[in-house]
Amino acid sequence: MKTLTALTLVAAVFTDARPVPHPLTLVSRVVDDGNIYANWPTYDQLPLHPSFPTKAAWGVWGATDELGSLNHIRNATILAAKSEIQLGRTFNLNLELSMPDPPLITSRRPLIHAIQPFAGYQDDVITLNTQISTQFDGLRHFPYSTNASQATYQFYNDLITFDNIMAPGGSSTLGIQKTAEKGIAGRGILLDWAGWMESKNASFDVFNATKISAAELDAVATWQDLDPASFAKPGDFLVVRTGFTKQYLALSPHDQSILPYRDAADTQFVGMEASDAMLRWLWDKKFSLVGSDNPGFEALGGPTVSIIDGIPRSLHQIFIGGWGLNIVEFLNLEKLTPAAHQLKRYSFFFTIQNLNVVGGIASPPNALAIL
Ligand SMILES: *[C@@H]1O[C@H](CO)[C@@H](O)[C@H](O)[C@H]1NC(C)=O
Ligand SMILES: *[C@@H]1O[C@H](CO)[C@@H](O)[C@H](O)[C@H]1NC(C)=O
Ligand SMILES: *[C@@H]1O[C@H](CO)[C@@H](O)[C@H](O)[C@H]1NC(C)=O
Ligand SMILES: *[C@@H]1O[C@H](CO)[C@@H](O)[C@H](O)[C@H]1NC(C)=O
Repeated sequence: MKTLTALTLVAAVFTDARPVPHPLTLVSRVVDDGNIYANWPTYDQLPLHPSFPTKAAWGVWGATDELGSLNHIRNATILAAKSEIQLGRTFNLNLELSMPDPPLITSRRPLIHAIQPFAGYQDDVITLNTQISTQFDGLRHFPYSTNASQATYQFYNDLITFDNIMAPGGSSTLGIQKTAEKGIAGRGILLDWAGWMESKNASFDVFNATKISAAELDAVATWQDLDPASFAKPGDFLVVRTGFTKQYLALSPHDQSILPYRDAADTQFVGMEASDAMLRWLWDKKFSLVGSDNPGFEALGGPTVSIIDGIPRSLHQIFIGGWGLNIVEFLNLEKLTPAAHQLKRYSFFFTIQNLNVVGGIASPPNALAIL
């Protein structure tokens, strides 16, 4: 039986694959600490150099930068976000580490959790593929590629190659130890697309490649009494609720266990549409991080490919390989969302502390929201 593979995110095998020139001569913006948005490129001005891949933000935070969009979070951003803590109510945003069980891509091994008893105490041992359960995608996870072959891989700022990741004792550049060291905190903003759909009695299937557009996200903001033009502040963590977790958790154990074994053509998941309009909407809002309750933030599977600037691209390629934008997937928003609606307040303080794995690719985010 066929199953979803990482190839799905490449959208299609691009037959006109061009070899990638390495190393590129990086052009970069000078970042002024006093005004980080001086000389800020517009979406149309990306990339800074024509040799860079589709809509890459390479050089925008400097030629050797390894933090990407997290640079939007300054000390002052975190200080300003403390006003989001008004009640002291905490919300765990992480699924159980074993969920979904079985993993939605069957070649990903399920969590192994073993207890090691000793005389007078016990330990436990966890073996985890970081792409199951709630996950923080680091910048080693997803390069640009045109035909899913490593000859066409291009990582953020062109700092590493696939061989650097695979080499034992090799470079740790772009590893998740960088974000663990930074420590991520700030203001989160929730857009409840699923709640908006339900409010219109619109039915939708999260196990279908339903594509959520930027115009719909604006409509969700309006439904939540937020002004689409101003609800987002630079450095915010955008969180979109697609309803995936709700529908997944409502499946019977039987249906959860057969879900990964759908035919490839039916292996589809709701998510954001990969389009110029979506990318422009996100770039203009200067998010530090994006997240959602679905498997890939973007819609996965389905018959169409997304052509951005003439090349089939996924949001994963442009976010992670291009903007250095981490993605947080499989968030559990089912407790935060009702509280936000009850309070009519959709912003919150959040923290993310990923595992400090040198050269790591992804991690549980240990995501916490505080209202
Ligand atoms: C992908 O494209 C690269 C660069 O043109 C080429 O070297 C490689 O053989 C291609 N791989 C596949 C699987 O088509
Ligand atoms: C901002 O925070 C970082 C990390 O916590 C710290 O090293 C730096 O000194 C701070 N800068 C200012 C101006 O306080
Ligand atoms: C949605 O359905 C409910 C229950 O049938 C009904 O009360 C409500 O008016 C409907 N809302 C809209 C927007 O159609
Ligand atoms: C996905 O949605 C389309 C349009 O509503 C529908 O025709 C199709 O059968 C759905 N596919 C699956 C796998 O649910």
